[in-house]
Amino acid sequence: MKETRKPLIAANWKMHKTLGESVAFVEAMIPKVRGLEDRELLVCSSFTSLYALSKILKNTGIYLGAQNMHFADSGAFTGEVSATMLLDVGCDFVILGHSERRHVFSETDEMIQKKVQKALQSGLKVVLCVGELLEERESGRAKEVVRTQLKSALESLETLDSLVIAYEPVWAIGTGHTATPKDAEEMHSFIRSLISELYDSDTAERLLIQYGGSVKPENISQLMGQPNIDGALVGGASLELDSFSRVLHFD
Ligand code: PGA
Repeated sequence: MKETRKPLIAANWKMHKTLGESVAFVEAMIPKVRGLEDRELLVCSSFTSLYALSKILKNTGIYLGAQNMHFADSGAFTGEVSATMLLDVGCDFVILGHSERRHVFSETDEMIQKKVQKALQSGLKVVLCVGELLEERESGRAKEVVRTQLKSALESLETLDSLVIAYEPVWAIGTGHTATPKDAEEMHSFIRSLISELYDSDTAERLLIQYGGSVKPENISQLMGQPNIDGALVGGASLELDSFSRVLHFD
């Protein structure tokens, strides 16, 4: 039942916004989102803005997230950040398995599996991204790719209570080419039935599945009108307050 799932709209700022820009954005956003009680909000900033944003977002009900983390607790991993460190600066969520991490930084399914396990064990919530490349879709392998990514990432997780899945077809990210609501819905429905197979129907019914890939004010309502789309992970359109606010106010 879609009515039992509260949509989650997330901003993924990627490597954009300085500390000052992040703070100014969030301070201006808070008054604009008052009264939006039927949806949840998440802002995923760069590491350098997290601590300041956590102070501003405290008691607003708006979640704060990081965009990556390492799976080890600590150690000689120059340039990396642990789950404990993210919790320490006030993060609620971490995005894991984003296609830019998979394809630009060569993260493997195995690394993503370890990260998901560590994040959840540590008490972070996870937005787990999955999605196929253009050539995988064109050769009819999109579902197989998504199934492999999901089975690997979820291996040995007993519950999915703190996990959200984001379906992000790689060819739709930052390209202006959104999946049609029908194509997105087909994959979301496939993901939900896969979760029902791997877990049970209650788990599948409760799970939030976001869509990501060129979401903007002009297409959010149609996407959200689909029975298995429970929110959005928004990149480009989350960088300007006006467009992000219009996305947040979808009806
Ligand atoms: P986009 O990015 O909205 O700019 O396509 C989405 C994402 O990468 O999460």
